[in-house]
Amino acid sequence: MAEVKKIAVIAGDGIGPEVVAEAEKVLKRTEELFGYRFETEHALFGGIAIDEKGTPLPEETLAVCRKADAVLLGAVGGPKWDNNPKELRPETGLLGIRKALGLFSNLRPAVVFDCLKDASTLKPEVLEGTDLMVVRELTGGIYFGEKYRRDTDQGQEAVDTCAYNVSEVERIVRQAFEIAQKRRKKLASVDKANVLETSRLWREVVNRVAPEYPDVELEHVLVDNCAMQLLRRPSSFDVIVTENMFGDILSDEAAMLTGSIGMLSSASLGEGSFGLYEPVHGSAPDIAGQNLANPIATILSVALMFRMTFGYADAADAIERAVADVLNAGHRTGDIAVDKSKAIGTVAMGDLIVAAMSK
Ligand code: NAI
Ligand code: MG
Repeated sequence: MAEVKKIAVIAGDGIGPEVVAEAEKVLKRTEELFGYRFETEHALFGGIAIDEKGTPLPEETLAVCRKADAVLLGAVGGPKWDNNPKELRPETGLLGIRKALGLFSNLRPAVVFDCLKDASTLKPEVLEGTDLMVVRELTGGIYFGEKYRRDTDQGQEAVDTCAYNVSEVERIVRQAFEIAQKRRKKLASVDKANVLETSRLWREVVNRVAPEYPDVELEHVLVDNCAMQLLRRPSSFDVIVTENMFGDILSDEAAMLTGSIGMLSSASLGEGSFGLYEPVHGSAPDIAGQNLANPIATILSVALMFRMTFGYADAADAIERAVADVLNAGHRTGDIAVDKSKAIGTVAMGDLIVAAMSK
């Protein structure tokens, strides 16, 4: 009997509960097919937690996450809470949960499904074979550096500072090398070492640890060049590792290679195998509660969880294969449908993927 894996399930707001419900069907099907065992525990987070508990991130939710092996999160937020004070906003909970769980990297795969090549604004022949992963540092850099304003002779001046220390760089760089080892063994480290001191330190650390991963082919790419190469030769990238702000921008750019936000999964990782997995999209209040949301991003987040946290590559492959098969058979939710009148709903898409899963 396989060991029981504990998964904290946080449905959240808007379309969150709808897409998470489909992902849970995939969990159940994985147990039947592969004999793995999952124990799920649901917890409140985001807007619904504000309404029911008076805080976006209740202590009991953190406790559920801490005793779990992984967290599956839908999405949080919505107009209802937009005008709340900061501590009562769902987004504050997102920053809080990452911090409380020590999640220092954000992983975003960008995979172009062959049959969706025409959903992108780029030429299909450029996109062919694109399967990359952006590994973004999440808790350091300019977003977290000291910031202030001061008066000068030329008027007010605003200052943001960017700082990284060796251990912050080393832990994410090592993680990226290890991820590359499990993929196509190519790593692009992205920096601005011709200008920034933090980037020079970044590059020193990368070069120091690189010899420990001799099977991984390393390239250093300046961030402006990387932005160009992502559009010119996306399929040549495997793993891209970079600091917080560069990663924020490049991961959004990479996301657009694939066409729809409804297809994009993500992981946030810390030390060890624990991770939080969620779709890239938000709570989509405009389509919530109407069975219109594409559940694929959340379902692919489960595949990512299997691969990264549990080491269940066979089950991850099965999910990804099932998604590809269902798309190849022409089934589409509204966000990826060319002919919107033929679009299917959230539940139907989930059911088709579950039915297409095989060992
Ligand atoms: P959004 O991602 O929720 O929606 C943007 C557009 O994409 C909308 O037109 C929506 O209908 C569509 N869309 C998103 N996911 C889809 C899916 N699975 N299937 C089909 N269509 C989909 O971003 P938006 O509108 O900027 O934010 C809405 C709320 O979500 C806000 O409160 C925002 O703060 C929150 N948000 C939460 C995130 C999270 O929980 N990690 C991330 C981003 C936004
Ligand atoms: Mg962003």
